[in-house]
Amino acid sequence: MCGIVGIVSQREFPASALLERLKRLEYRGYDSFGYYDGRALTKRVGSIAVDGRGLTRAGISHTRWATHGGVTQANAHPHASCDGGVVIVHNGIIENFEDLKRELARKGHRFASQTDSEVIGHFFEEGLKTKPVRSVIVDFMRAASGTFAVLAMLKGRDEIYAVKRDSPLVLGVAKDMNLVASDIYAFSDLTDQAAFFENDEFAVIRDDGFQFFDRAGRAVRKPLQRFVWQKESSSRKAFKHHMMKEILDEPEAVDRLLFSLEHEQKPAFDELAGLVRRAKKIIFASCGTSYHASLLGAYFLHKVGVENQTLIASEFRHFANVDKDTLVVAISQSGETMDVIDSLNYARECGGRVVSLVNVPYSTIQRMSDLSLNLLAGQEVCVASTKAFVSQSAFLLRLAREFGFRVNLANLADRVRGILRKREDIRRMAESVAASRDLYVIGRGLTYPVAREIALKIKEISYIHAEGMMGGELKHGTIALIEDGTPVISIINNSDPDIISNTKEVEARGAKVIPITNNPALWRKPGTIAVRTDNDGKFGILAAVAGQLIAYYAADKLGRPIDKPRNLAKSVTVK
Ligand code: AGP
Repeated sequence: MCGIVGIVSQREFPASALLERLKRLEYRGYDSFGYYDGRALTKRVGSIAVDGRGLTRAGISHTRWATHGGVTQANAHPHASCDGGVVIVHNGIIENFEDLKRELARKGHRFASQTDSEVIGHFFEEGLKTKPVRSVIVDFMRAASGTFAVLAMLKGRDEIYAVKRDSPLVLGVAKDMNLVASDIYAFSDLTDQAAFFENDEFAVIRDDGFQFFDRAGRAVRKPLQRFVWQKESSSRKAFKHHMMKEILDEPEAVDRLLFSLEHEQKPAFDELAGLVRRAKKIIFASCGTSYHASLLGAYFLHKVGVENQTLIASEFRHFANVDKDTLVVAISQSGETMDVIDSLNYARECGGRVVSLVNVPYSTIQRMSDLSLNLLAGQEVCVASTKAFVSQSAFLLRLAREFGFRVNLANLADRVRGILRKREDIRRMAESVAASRDLYVIGRGLTYPVAREIALKIKEISYIHAEGMMGGELKHGTIALIEDGTPVISIINNSDPDIISNTKEVEARGAKVIPITNNPALWRKPGTIAVRTDNDGKFGILAAVAGQLIAYYAADKLGRPIDKPRNLAKSVTVK
């Protein structure tokens, strides 16, 4: 996944304004970035530095997550054609790029990168020898297979050509300027007026207007839509990292979501509950942290007799048996995860019904769903998903309550605040394990998904090897790795005797046990993290929040980049 932003403005603006917009999409990719201001092309490896001073009236930019070709300056976007007359940025994958490249190379084009994207600029350059740009775009859509959101500029013209197939792209209309980007976050502080690209549409965007076209080059009327987006609740400036800001946003995000499920999202929520009630089969599809939230949801729903299955989206086709009576529930923060999109396409092919729960409104997953609800967690900039996980889990708990799960959600946000207030104690504990090479997190039943989630956060942010597992599986092999001093975070709910016995097993082998528990009196150990609730559902969410803080503080102690990539910027400007 990459992020792209283009601006065409009636007034001159510095390139840094383009990069500020791009920075809002950094969660989409962060290994390299670049921009083109109509004259020169700048690319850097590393995270986005907002520092371009030259003035322009049109520019395009890109933040990359490498797929084809390593993380190098040459592979960073934008890419130029041989004579520099065409410059493009691209999000997606051109599947037949090797064929296109061979053909273009035969015609004399020379390539400077290993990316699939570079063929686009050369394709345009070749076509422009004989045709106007709109015909070239139509040819490109015919010739290219794969997914793409492309922004192209021709040297000397303050216009952006934007093309879309299966990768997100949206146009924003603000005062004196038009913006085009991978999602509305890029400009949601400037305007609430947007036009959404459908597949195989393209647009010509100027400072004073825009025109959409279909795949045959016929003009398409595209009305502007008003979108509603929650403003970020606190300023990033007050915190060292986005991750901490986003964790501290959690109580507000929970309240906002639960309130909306009783008010503006109530009709959609009731419709979802009806679909769940009537479905013969329910399958969740998601990845990473969202998968862990769906596992928690699977637990909540099972407890109230709602049979369901949850699958990692990249394996969906291999394990799902979808038919017309199946309800597939996609869970995704970004709403753009390709494996989830693939699962939904497959579900549709099999005649299944598709619903989703996403944090990014108007995202691809939302738009391809029969019914979609919003998480309303606000923008997640840090690559580690935190507040979205809490909102996803709270949503699923609310859904389970609809089917009889006993839980008082009115004080959930307050209970989250309670964990956040303990962050100094959690920091001390996290710092004491930061030097570990390996770490284990164990749980059972409700706390198994939480153990997986905490381990993922620790790996992702602190780079400590962490394994999250079912306590019951320890004795079947992994226990061999527990030795004197190995940290084991044990998530102990309601004095569950089984997880207590697993905890004793590792303790007997010398493990440094860190309990996260709602019965701290049982442990009396320094470092024990006490969670105030005796409700199953809330305990799962609160324990996960404690785990997010452990991951954050361990990473901070180790000086990890947390919000940023490891390899930092070195600039090159290509004329
Ligand atoms: C979580 O910290 C990760 N960044 C990752 O596992 C993420 O949850 C996963 O890639 C799924 O993303 P999505 O929720 O946007 O679909």
